[in-house]
Amino acid sequence: MTSYKELGLVNTKEMFKKAVAGGYAIPAFNFNTLEQMQAIVQAAVETKSPVIMQVSKGARNYANGTILRYMAQGAVEYAKELGCENPQIVLHLDHGDSFELCKDCIDNGFSSVMFDGSALPYEDNIRITKQVVEYAHAHDVTVEAELGVLAGVEDEVQAEESHYTKPEEVIDFATRSGCDSLAISIGTSHGAYKFTPEQCTRDPKTGKLVPPPLAFDILHEIEKKLPGFPIVLHGSSSVPQDEVDTINAHGGKLPDAVGIPEEQLREASKSAVCKINIDSDSRLAMTAAIRKHFDEKPGDFDPRQYLKPARENMKKMYIHKIVEVLGSDNKL
Ligand code: G3H
Ligand code: 13P
Ligand code: ZN
Repeated sequence: MTSYKELGLVNTKEMFKKAVAGGYAIPAFNFNTLEQMQAIVQAAVETKSPVIMQVSKGARNYANGTILRYMAQGAVEYAKELGCENPQIVLHLDHGDSFELCKDCIDNGFSSVMFDGSALPYEDNIRITKQVVEYAHAHDVTVEAELGVLAGVEDEVQAEESHYTKPEEVIDFATRSGCDSLAISIGTSHGAYKFTPEQCTRDPKTGKLVPPPLAFDILHEIEKKLPGFPIVLHGSSSVPQDEVDTINAHGGKLPDAVGIPEEQLREASKSAVCKINIDSDSRLAMTAAIRKHFDEKPGDFDPRQYLKPARENMKKMYIHKIVEVLGSDNKL
């Protein structure tokens, strides 16, 4: 058993309380590689932001769970080395799909876990979330649950049909499950293709797709039912058009990729939404830099030559999110 406290990590409790009261959101960035981890830590330290580093089941399969855990421990030490005296870093399991997986993470240094029972029948979702909460709270680990189904790919769960969170269920769900935060469905979705062209309108000036707005009415109803309760948004990448254009200009093929407009995420950050999940934008920033590099310097073959600009581009994106969208800068 390794407690996250030995690793210098923190859980989400105080962080979320301050974020809800302060009208900002904590960035939750997924990581699978060394370069992502370095870029996340550099961005968080330079902006003096708390940060959640999250690991999906897919990331564990790709990089090995033990290695990722040591990387998070390394992230704390790296932040200190970069001059941050009191780094506020959470190591979070993203979309945990069983009690056993959540327990394994808690036993191995994670400070926060998500049990995603959103695809399960309501009572099963409550029952397993509660089981995770009981184990997690005994170790001072915080638990995120999910109610409502996002469109797109939920890690191992492929959701064909999305449905918004029902505000009339949230009090019962949060009370009976005992979760510390709740991921809700109000129109965000995972990946770089969040909406079909049919769901969007086209900007007559630019010809670009304009996605339908998020269901802020549902968010506000949920806030009224659970005043001050920490709310989480998944699937919140903006799919920056300049990165998509760079990818497509250098041999990529991402037609009609579309994300959540940043103004809407900025608005959400001021509400009870206190954790915003971003993964796809990091993938796009990395891929855009690497494609451009290879196009311009076809003779390069040392991975450091193309991973360095990739890391810089991700760092720029992370800083932009922290300062311009979520407002979590200068909060340490
Ligand atoms: O919500 C899903 C995250 O973007 C993680 O994706 O399962 O491909 O690692 P992944
Ligand atoms: P994006 O695919 O929009 O980056 O969402 C990531 C996410 O929700 C991770 O849990
Ligand atoms: Zn997610």
